Amino acid sequence: MKKNTSKMPAVNGKISIAPSILSADLCRLGEEVARVASAGADWLHVDIMDGHFVPNLSFGPALVRSLRSHTDLPLDVHLMVTNPLQFIEPFAQAGADLLTVHVESQDDTVTTLKTIKELGVKTGVSIKPDTNPDVLKNLTQYIDLILVMSVYPGFGGQAFLESSPAQIKQVRQIINASVKPIWLEVDGGINAQTARLAVAAGADALVAGHAIFSSADPALALKQIGQATPEI
Ligand code: DX5
Ligand code: ZN
Repeated sequence: MKKNTSKMPAVNGKISIAPSILSADLCRLGEEVARVASAGADWLHVDIMDGHFVPNLSFGPALVRSLRSHTDLPLDVHLMVTNPLQFIEPFAQAGADLLTVHVESQDDTVTTLKTIKELGVKTGVSIKPDTNPDVLKNLTQYIDLILVMSVYPGFGGQAFLESSPAQIKQVRQIINASVKPIWLEVDGGINAQTARLAVAAGADALVAGHAIFSSADPALALKQIGQATPEI
């Protein structure tokens, strides 16, 4: 089987912004992606939902494959599915650069992360708002990125939770104590105001869907989020 060669950069001390296509106009997806790419998006966030882990359905490997042939942006694929293991190979083959799975999913997290790594893809682990970040402590050796959900997963356009900065800070401490660099990405309710809160708490990558794609000027919205987040 052909190995994936991930385009995900190593942790670089900059804030990366990943527009989430969940809120894009799907009939014009190619244009939407080109627009955020030329406005300076760092990665493209693709939310995969199975209707079990979250009460919504979204995309599958076919969309990732199509995106892969239309953009050079790293594809940051967030699997909100109950059994991620069966989907790792199809998404790796489709061209995902990062595959993030939830610790709350039913498959063994270490087995799933090892499978992702063997396919040449970067590994991410996500936690929901009520999950204690301590579950990540024994996983850091397998992880390239931790994704903190700052809304309950399932839908775009929700408000950033007030409890999130405390959870982000705890994850930042775990990352700082680990022997290797790990991205800290925050997902949900990010706009120019909440981006500041997330970065102040320790985030170095931000997902934003509604704030970018539901804006009259997505390129401007993306730039405003970037300007709100000075270097860490
Ligand atoms: C929610 C998804 C998010 C979502 C973020 O379950 O994981 O990636 O697209 O959307 P906004 O930025 O609109 O909260
Ligand atoms: Zn997401």
